[in-house]
Amino acid sequence: MNDHSTAVRNFHRAFYEGNARADGIQGLHSLTRYQGIETHKCPLDLWVFQEILHDVRPALVIELGTFLGGTTLFLAHQLELFNCGSVVSVDCRELSRPQHPRVQYLVGNTQSPEIIGMIRQKAQQVTGPVLVIHDADHHYDVCLEDLEVYGPLVTTGSYLIVEDTNVNGHPVNTEWGPGPWEAVEAFLSKRSEFARDSGREKFLMTYNPGGYLRRCHSSD
Ligand SMILES: C[S@@+](CC[C@H](N)C(=O)[O-])C[C@H]1O[C@@H](n2cnc3c(N)ncnc32)[C@H](O)[C@@H]1O
Repeated sequence: MNDHSTAVRNFHRAFYEGNARADGIQGLHSLTRYQGIETHKCPLDLWVFQEILHDVRPALVIELGTFLGGTTLFLAHQLELFNCGSVVSVDCRELSRPQHPRVQYLVGNTQSPEIIGMIRQKAQQVTGPVLVIHDADHHYDVCLEDLEVYGPLVTTGSYLIVEDTNVNGHPVNTEWGPGPWEAVEAFLSKRSEFARDSGREKFLMTYNPGGYLRRCHSSD
């Protein structure tokens, strides 16, 4: 590993592990705010999101894992500027979240048949691009199942963004065990219509290494 990539990995670890709190929350993402709302993202990734939204102009963004809705509001504000699309965001926890006319929150598990049915229906109702952001359960089995269920809703030319592929030593949180990185590997081995878009990692540090998946064609 050269000096340059060592520096990026060290910065990544410092960013991800900074601000360790007594409640177990760590990472400078826990200090990141969008419009005052705690937003668990690396700000460099939020900028990449903005660029993807600009390029894709989604009719529907499906966000799996809302937390407090900071990213959800960010997505809605971007869509507002482009005058297109809406966001449906799912979380198993009911928390206080910002309201916006382009946002619908669903409370439930990503794997529940009711939630899957509602989201599939919404995806079928739109005529433009559909984009999926996975930021829910980061354990391998659940993540892979989510990718299998929601990945097919992504339209050709749009993206399946798989968050926190950096855990399990890629390069942070070595104790995590198989997670999103490994789920992406398994998903891509069966889904040749998706490919990693490494161009979306141009800012060197991303919480989603190898996690920006572009749908290149409809299916085999
Ligand atoms: C990393 S946080 C999401 C952060 C948020 N996307 C942001 O940018 O601020 C993960 C969220 O996923 C939710 N979650 C975890 N497993 C889930 C599941 N299987 N179904 C729905 N929500 C889930 C948790 O309640 C938590 O709020």
